[in-house]
Amino acid sequence: MTAKDKHYSETKDFTRRDFMKLGLGALSGLAVLEMGIGSLQFLRAKSLDGKFGGLFTAGKVDEIPNNSVTEFTDGNFYLVRGKDGGFMALYRRCPHLGCAVEWSESKERFYCPCHASSFDINGDFISQPVPKALDLFEVSFQDGAVLVDTSKVTRREHFSPDQIVYFDA
Ligand code: FES
Repeated sequence: MTAKDKHYSETKDFTRRDFMKLGLGALSGLAVLEMGIGSLQFLRAKSLDGKFGGLFTAGKVDEIPNNSVTEFTDGNFYLVRGKDGGFMALYRRCPHLGCAVEWSESKERFYCPCHASSFDINGDFISQPVPKALDLFEVSFQDGAVLVDTSKVTRREHFSPDQIVYFDA
């Protein structure tokens, strides 16, 4: 074996060892990354409750008056309780270009401050420029409380009575 051959052999051995180390290192790195992502997803799911994109407890059913509109700024929605006691959670986002709509108690309408669209108490559009109703969030009930899931948006063209959710005690 010449000096050149020896050098080649050592380089080859080193490369194999290095490759093994790299492979083990990469596997360890992947495992740590997966654990990190898993932890982040767990924390994310927990931390979204009570924030937009998560689940809101909007109050006890028997404490929310009929024919009322309650704004949840953090959740980006209005909880509407109709005259017959049914619930809807309306996304505050205007379906035109996304401005936050405002509720006018005296006129019983939602208004968009950007281009003057208006919507009735069910979120159905009254005036242009947007011929679409406000989107809905999913409403459910647990232990007598109203829950609004802001991760579940339902887009709709118009209001329809089957969009109202009723509490069944
Ligand atoms: S963003 Fe609401 S009408 Fe344009």
